[in-house]
Amino acid sequence: MSIMKKVLSTILFSFIIAFLSTRVICAASTPSLNTTSLQLQKGETAELSLQGAKANKVKWSSKNKKIADVKKGVVTAKEAGSTKVIAKYKGKKYVCKVTVTDQNDEPIIDENMILTIDGTKMDVIWETNESVAALQKLLPITVSMSEYGGFEQVGEIGTSLPRNDQEITTDAGDIVLYSGDKLSIFYDSNSWSYTRLGGITGKSKAELKELLGKDSVTAVISLDKPAEKSVVVYFSQTGTTKGVAEMIAEVTGSELKRIEPMVPYTSEDLDYNDSSTRATVEQNDLSARPEIKNEISLEGCRTLYLGYPIWWGQAPRIMDTFVEGHNLTGVTVIPFCTSGSSGIGSSAERLKTLADSGTWKAGRRFSSGTDINTIKEWIDSLN
Ligand SMILES: Cc1cc2nc3c(=O)[nH]c(=O)nc-3n(C[C@H](O)[C@H](O)[C@H](O)COP(=O)(O)O)c2cc1C
Repeated sequence: MSIMKKVLSTILFSFIIAFLSTRVICAASTPSLNTTSLQLQKGETAELSLQGAKANKVKWSSKNKKIADVKKGVVTAKEAGSTKVIAKYKGKKYVCKVTVTDQNDEPIIDENMILTIDGTKMDVIWETNESVAALQKLLPITVSMSEYGGFEQVGEIGTSLPRNDQEITTDAGDIVLYSGDKLSIFYDSNSWSYTRLGGITGKSKAELKELLGKDSVTAVISLDKPAEKSVVVYFSQTGTTKGVAEMIAEVTGSELKRIEPMVPYTSEDLDYNDSSTRATVEQNDLSARPEIKNEISLEGCRTLYLGYPIWWGQAPRIMDTFVEGHNLTGVTVIPFCTSGSSGIGSSAERLKTLADSGTWKAGRRFSSGTDINTIKEWIDSLN
């Protein structure tokens, strides 16, 4: 009996030893890194460990020490970029991808990035981080969201964004990236690892609960493009073109911008009875480009009313300077001029050729006595 007991216990013991040793061998033969990808901000550190390996036998190295250095598994983010940290153990390599981003904790209010929830526009302070920057490139996006956990609405973005997850406890209004590819908007708090994208401001917790505490919502994030505008740009020396330009601006609701010459024209310069005066000399020189003093921005301009007096049958050379100095791509240009008696002739055609951009409509000449009704009729005829 006791022999039997001994035999049985020996067999059992051998089994246990055999079982345990396989476990140890298994564990020892398949070491793995605690993470294979790290997102760090400049200056941050993170600890890597090769689980299942003897820590003092692991050799750590970084492919690019300038981006991230590693000592005994502690990774220090040095400068923006990405590199690989390698753990070498028993002749095998275990790789962790490290992405370092610039430190930038300052949140910005980006009025151009608009969030609406079920059609209601939210005031959002967006974070300045690479996740928001990547999100911005996807806009506009519509995210169908579903309620989860009594604290959030969550929905698929449709693609993965760069993430820098951190354990955070959310507040109502927080907007986060969850698991790299989901958008979560909170109406109550939850603690989890997220990348913060921004926060809704100006809404109470109760208001947010009313808005988000339902089965599903639709979130739309879009870019608010600056309103398309029309601009009247004009050059005028004795006030006639200025008067017409002002009426056009009034009728069309356009911005009004005057071309100022760097060297002002004196009345002598404008004396067309003397062929040696400045204006006449310039007009006789096709390559003359009088300098413009003021910066005239056409940002957001879709329609440009471009006005000038007729000087010797053509637009003053300063108009050549203007059209050559501006990219009119995407702009509809409507030329107009004033004169003693001449028509617009080929002046607008010449400007169009020099501009080499923009969609040019037929121009129109106005006399010095033009009234606002004439301008209204003309504007109406353009539409
Ligand atoms: C140098 C010069 C040349 C001109 N040449 C002509 C011309 O060829 N034909 C014409 O009808 N008026 C001509 N004018 C008159 C102007 O076109 C006219 O007075 C114009 O309305 C002035 O516009 P502003 O007051 O906006 O400068 C000329 C004026 C100047 C100063």
